[in-house]
Amino acid sequence: MDPSFATREQSRLLRELTEFLAIPSISALPDHAADCRRAAEWLVNDLRRLGCPVVDLLEGNGHPIVWAEGPVVPGAPTLLIYGHYDVQPVDPVEEWHTPPFEATVRDGKLYARGTADDKGQVFCLLRAYEAIRDSDGQPPLNVHFIFEGEEECGGHMIDELLAREPERTRADAVLVCDMCYYAPGIPGVYTALRGMCYTEITVRTLQRDLHSGTYGGVAPNAIETLVRLLTDLKSADGKINIPKIYKSVKPPTKAELRDWEHLPFRKKEYLKDEVTAKALTGLKRYSVFERTWALPTLEIHGIKGGFVGEGAKTVIPASATAKVSLRLVPGLPFARVAKWLERAVKAAAPKYAEVHVKILHGGDPVQVDVGHPAFAVLDEAFREVVGRPPVRVRAGGSIPIVPRLGTMGAPVLLTGIGLPDDGLHSPNEKLDLRQLWDGITVFGRFMEKFAAVGK
Ligand code: BES
Ligand code: MN
Ligand code: MN
Repeated sequence: MDPSFATREQSRLLRELTEFLAIPSISALPDHAADCRRAAEWLVNDLRRLGCPVVDLLEGNGHPIVWAEGPVVPGAPTLLIYGHYDVQPVDPVEEWHTPPFEATVRDGKLYARGTADDKGQVFCLLRAYEAIRDSDGQPPLNVHFIFEGEEECGGHMIDELLAREPERTRADAVLVCDMCYYAPGIPGVYTALRGMCYTEITVRTLQRDLHSGTYGGVAPNAIETLVRLLTDLKSADGKINIPKIYKSVKPPTKAELRDWEHLPFRKKEYLKDEVTAKALTGLKRYSVFERTWALPTLEIHGIKGGFVGEGAKTVIPASATAKVSLRLVPGLPFARVAKWLERAVKAAAPKYAEVHVKILHGGDPVQVDVGHPAFAVLDEAFREVVGRPPVRVRAGGSIPIVPRLGTMGAPVLLTGIGLPDDGLHSPNEKLDLRQLWDGITVFGRFMEKFAAVGK
């Protein structure tokens, strides 16, 4: 490829990405279903323009999946590229300095929802693919593309598709570009992603809300009961009180722990600039890396119930619901943890309360063996373009479909061009344009090198 492709084509590329980012493909909001379809169609058109003879929009009960196959290159390896075209909601919208769907460049950074997660990264791979085609438009390897529109909302489309048709993941490697560098100048390749168990826990203590004067002192309060239950599930020291959970965790390997000890990490800055808190919480005897990458978590996302309007209303709430999720690590499959959680909630509930655990969605944790030769190819590509190979890290976040991408035996390369301060899911999400231009060259070089050695 011409290594000056990205910088030479900058203004066109920026125009095209801006168009893709302008589509508000918020998968969690039903009102944006048509926008999700438009984003999928944008990809369909782009893939056709890139010369893919197979481009399908796969329909079902949810946002469509984009599937494409580049021209067949006999004897060459096959790379499967995964990404997601859906984005997170934009609220609180008043905190954005410029409108979330009008991509704006400030100080070399592109601001818009989806720049880093994940439309900008999907675009990066598409343009890398564009850049490696010869003068007749022929690529040096087989590339298959799968882009989903429900990654951010726990949708089932892609899981059902790949359960039905696992051969779609038959490839010599799978490339997932939905992550970030460990730090500026230090790319990352991920050895594990956490899984997820997202639930709603509902407590009912009364048939109807009651006067808190008449019955205060005897009537069981649903919110109070729920809060006690939640603090039983996780104590103040950060320990999750679900039997068997810690014993089942498969600890990080010695090599991983050694790698983590060598990562540059400044706790003070991390606390102040990233976490923005006065102190860290959680299991104190473990490092920050262990707590965010190698241990399960239990977070309360919101509590619904009782009176939350303006002013005062004296009421004892009859029912209350909390949204609670657990992040899962190797050794803790989603289905098993879901059962344990249900059991623990029932056990912690007082006799007078009816409790119900509703599982909203989930995904298994995934661990990647980075010993496959494809990782050495990725190391080389990064070394060539940005001057150093990626460090081996883990992610605290989740991409629920990743375990299925490896079921046919292909190594799954988890990496990305984001930076830690990109503000995924937050107001003023951005992508550093330097990262994008470099990324196009990195992944173009990766594909070229992989074409030569990947089979
Ligand atoms: N790209 C992220 C996952 C991610 C974040 C990986 C940071 C590595 C570092 C992905 O789009 C995401 O946000 N996933 C959700 C999944 C959830 C809705 C099941 C997450 O982790 O919360
Ligand atoms: Mn993502
Ligand atoms: Mn995300």
